[in-house]
Amino acid sequence: MSETCKSAKGVFEAVVLTNKQIGSQFGKLKLTFSGDGAKAFAGFRPGQFAELDLSGTALPSNEKIPPDLVDSSGRNILLRRPFSLTDVTIHGEKTSAEVLYCVVGPASLRMTTLSAGDSINVIGPLGNGFRIPENKKYALLTAGGMGTPPLQHLAKVLATDHKDIEVTAFVGAKTKTALPFEGRIDEVSQQLGFSLREFAQYGIESIVATDDGSTGYKGFVTDCLAEWLEQTESAGDEIIIYSCGPEEMLAKVAEIAAGKNIDCQVSMERRMACGIGLCQSCAIECRVPGLSETVYKMCCEDGPVFDGKEVVFSLQQEK
Ligand SMILES: Cc1cc2nc3c(=O)[nH]c(=O)nc-3n(C[C@H](O)[C@H](O)[C@H](O)COP(=O)(O)OP(=O)(O)OC[C@H]3O[C@@H](n4cnc5c(N)ncnc54)[C@H](O)[C@@H]3O)c2cc1C
Ligand code: FES
Repeated sequence: MSETCKSAKGVFEAVVLTNKQIGSQFGKLKLTFSGDGAKAFAGFRPGQFAELDLSGTALPSNEKIPPDLVDSSGRNILLRRPFSLTDVTIHGEKTSAEVLYCVVGPASLRMTTLSAGDSINVIGPLGNGFRIPENKKYALLTAGGMGTPPLQHLAKVLATDHKDIEVTAFVGAKTKTALPFEGRIDEVSQQLGFSLREFAQYGIESIVATDDGSTGYKGFVTDCLAEWLEQTESAGDEIIIYSCGPEEMLAKVAEIAAGKNIDCQVSMERRMACGIGLCQSCAIECRVPGLSETVYKMCCEDGPVFDGKEVVFSLQQEK
């Protein structure tokens, strides 16, 4: 997959097919695009994102607003919000796309009121997406908290178009209710297994970790990744790590990968205003090979996916 091969972006209307609540804080929105939108989103690659206009979407009734969002819920939604996609499927002349969202503020709260037949304005596909280099035998998907959506999409593409690559998913969160999955996550064991339906549907094993041990391994998901790498007999250059989640976790994943000379791509998050490289609000400090100075790249245009070695993570800046 070439770094420069970006599909044509545009502004499109999508129609809501379904909007399903998952647990107390997540939702899965299925959209369908027709015409030029269908063509553009048919080329949407894992790790790219779309900007959703939620300014005209209604708030839920007062009793459905979580107590911690009551004060902020009435804020005007002036800016579009960036979202990854967990799945993209072409159905003849239409393309469907799935957004897995966490309710964290006024815009995502409004997403809960979208229902079948509603129309929503979307800009995309945006950003670069994950790259899949030649000659890799193992892909390790490492997600923290709400980092799972682009990795679910990547899992599908790897399982469909790169059958020679063996994929394992590592998924972590603070506690079991913060895991954005539909199955019986209270029954997840500490071992590799097909417990997460979202990955198992592609024949991909997963291992789950929670900080508090409420399900799966008790501790950080990066511990599970490091242990897997300790136990494997494969050479570092046969492996690639893809990661998305909190910056602290991405920094650790990049450190583990660098220590073993393993390729690593991290999907970064920044607050975004324009989403198309104009406002400079989403800067990420990056190293330049062979130089001591760093440069600022735009998360929306140059990313959101970066080489793990390239990023100066904010924790490293504080040292
Ligand atoms: C490339 C990209 C892909 C994303 N994909 C998804 C996705 O698939 N599913 C999903 O649920 N969310 C995703 N997000 C995050 C999503 O954009 C935000 O949760 C959303 O904008 C929140 O809007 P809000 O009005 O509900 O909350 P706000 O009031 O805007 O934010 C609520 C809280 O979340 C924090 N926050 C919001 N956006 C960001 C951000 N970009 N980076 C760091 N902290 C942030 C705020 O600081 C605040 O504390 C993605 C973000 C980016 C940059
Ligand atoms: S969001 Fe405007 S430059 Fe990235």
